[in-house]
Amino acid sequence: MQQFRGLRSTLLLAALLPPCAFAGSPSAAPTVEERVEKLLAQMTIEEKVGQLTQYSGSGAVTGPVSFEGDVRHSNHRELLESGRIGSMLNVTGTNATRQYQEVALRSRLHIPLLFGQDVIHGYKMIFPIPLAEAASWDLEGIERSARIAATEAAAGGVHWTFAPMVDIARDPRWGRVMEGAGEDPWLGSRIAEARVRGFQGKGPGDLTAVMATAKHFAAYGAAIGGREYNSVDMSLRTLWEIYLPPFEAAARAGADSFMNSFNDLNGIPATGNAYLLNDILKGRWGFTGIVVSDWGSIGEMVPHGYARDLEQAAQEAITAGNDMDMESDAYRNHLAGLVAQGKVPLARVDDAVRRVLRKKFELGLFDDPYRFIDPERERAVLNDPSHRKAAREMADRSIVLLRNSPRVLPLDVKGRTVAFIGPLAKAGKENHGGWAVSLPDVDYERFVTTPFDALRARLPQGTRLLYARGCSVQGEDRSGFAEALDVARQADVILVSVGEDWTMSGEARARAHLGLPGVQEDLVKELHALGKPMVVLIGAGRPLIFPWISENVPAILYTWWLGTEAGDAITDVLLGDVNPSGRLPITFPRSMGQIPLYYNHLNTGRPAPGDAAKEYTTGYIDEKNVPRYAFGFGLGYTTFEYSGLRLDRKELRGDGKVRASLEVANTGGVAGDEVVQLYLHQKVASVVRPVKELKGFRRVHLAPGERRRVEFEIGREELSFIDMALHRVTEPGDIEVLIGASSEDIRQRAEFSLLD
Ligand code: GLC
Repeated sequence: MQQFRGLRSTLLLAALLPPCAFAGSPSAAPTVEERVEKLLAQMTIEEKVGQLTQYSGSGAVTGPVSFEGDVRHSNHRELLESGRIGSMLNVTGTNATRQYQEVALRSRLHIPLLFGQDVIHGYKMIFPIPLAEAASWDLEGIERSARIAATEAAAGGVHWTFAPMVDIARDPRWGRVMEGAGEDPWLGSRIAEARVRGFQGKGPGDLTAVMATAKHFAAYGAAIGGREYNSVDMSLRTLWEIYLPPFEAAARAGADSFMNSFNDLNGIPATGNAYLLNDILKGRWGFTGIVVSDWGSIGEMVPHGYARDLEQAAQEAITAGNDMDMESDAYRNHLAGLVAQGKVPLARVDDAVRRVLRKKFELGLFDDPYRFIDPERERAVLNDPSHRKAAREMADRSIVLLRNSPRVLPLDVKGRTVAFIGPLAKAGKENHGGWAVSLPDVDYERFVTTPFDALRARLPQGTRLLYARGCSVQGEDRSGFAEALDVARQADVILVSVGEDWTMSGEARARAHLGLPGVQEDLVKELHALGKPMVVLIGAGRPLIFPWISENVPAILYTWWLGTEAGDAITDVLLGDVNPSGRLPITFPRSMGQIPLYYNHLNTGRPAPGDAAKEYTTGYIDEKNVPRYAFGFGLGYTTFEYSGLRLDRKELRGDGKVRASLEVANTGGVAGDEVVQLYLHQKVASVVRPVKELKGFRRVHLAPGERRRVEFEIGREELSFIDMALHRVTEPGDIEVLIGASSEDIRQRAEFSLLD
């Protein structure tokens, strides 16, 4: 049994060395650490606490605000001028950030502000919501998307994004599933790394980069019942095996900050959870960046029942390792007193302040507090045409084709009449989805093209396009059905665009019913009864449950919220200019009763092979065991064949690797991308292993008839798991290699033995 220490011990050593160990030679320019120490030595306790205090400006408010308004509000101004605020969020644009920075620099030590913003999937150019981007399985594209978001945000004066959200989510009732990368720790880790790299670019000081934030630490996605802000209760082994890997990946990728989560974990709020913050993040992972609380989460330890009042909340948070207080007033009102009373060691406050000052020095803000504030650069960057092209490509790759039989797509519309019906057919800015920054001076009517307008602009001569709304997303009003049916009767093919409202997913948007809201499904049924070729497009920020549509409508496209370029990307796929290649990053259940349902489940002692349980095997008497659509599933306009899986060895020992290779062929008539997925299953171990775990994938583009060998390497990292002692280990045993087009569609199998 091998235990994994590896990177952690290196990081731990680095964290233990005193700052002076990094001092340069006396003649060289002072190092960041030396500059931090020099400034720290001049600061009063109130000024130190000021660096640990963050308030919201008047941008998107995402929680109970301590103060109304913006820099013109007397509260902010006085606090800023007296150095009592170290960071603002929801202040964007070169104009607003300059205003705030000017006021803050009047403080005694002229310490510049850090500007933070939720740049989650774009700043001005909005990319698909993160869950949709995860469906692209395109790590380069995801990194590029974050890179562009960072470039735009930095041009807008933003230093720090509160992204990537890396919460594993197995429960689609939870509204924030839209912000993450789905249910899988391995895919979630690779995407976390790509997003951190994209946001942080060449690192602090890069004028196209922002500090990234791995959030929400930790296990927020496991809220009981999928209910927002609810408790989380799980074994530490599950925490380490399923929920922590993307955070560890983000830390390894050099994330500059972490944000803790609102939930309590096994009875201790994450904001005051020393096991998470001190032991794991700052201890084992050697994290030297900033830990910022979530909005008011320090103060929320009072209603949690973990602190009797705001003063104790401040003490619990700072002691547990939380560095900055977003919007709870706890640090500003109580931290100095706690130090004076000896309840909080000054050394802990100094450590937190060092972490903040270090970033401000690294960003170059002390040398030039306005270096990110250049209106000319802002104008040029925010109108860079290459950004729209990247957003279109990512939207194209995020669309998932769930069904196309009998074949309706791509549309053959020359000389025909198309009816485009439904409440989302003319969705414009709604396609930005949740957590999209709204910039005051953008004309979104012109900036965003609806699917209807995009399709109309690209239909061949002689093709007619008709429209009817039919109904709204929510509500019982069927008065639009008659018009929709009239329009559909004139058409040769019917497109119906339905789903959630974009406001139905995201924070504080948990849903107990995941069907199509309102009367949308009734509209689809009545249109379907006309007996014409039909395509249903579903826009949502999460998996929905739509059994009748799944079983009766020949063509189904899952279009999530695809961002600014949604209209043209949907048109690309409808017309066949793009062959859809999205694969689900999260399981779609058949019914609510199956939730939580995920692919990497354990076998149990009474497994139920096939899709339904036999008597006395695991399952339900009134529902199948399998999902509606499996993790990793997605169709396209061509077909792929897998053959010839070979392993270069049947036994593995030491630090060797097994090389698995197979041939993938495009056996259809059009070029396309296939996501070849590698799953492993250790048959026997000291803790039961999941029936399969994703440990690699290759996205390959193949022309019609083209064949290519695809290779994977399997080593200790891929074979390791968390044992009962919470160590990452490997154990000897037989390993199944399962390679497929989805977690349910395994095309090739092989086996090898791990000998030590
Ligand atoms: C919110 C969210 C968090 C966000 C923060 C600032 O409540 O939980 O993800 O970054 O507040 O907007």
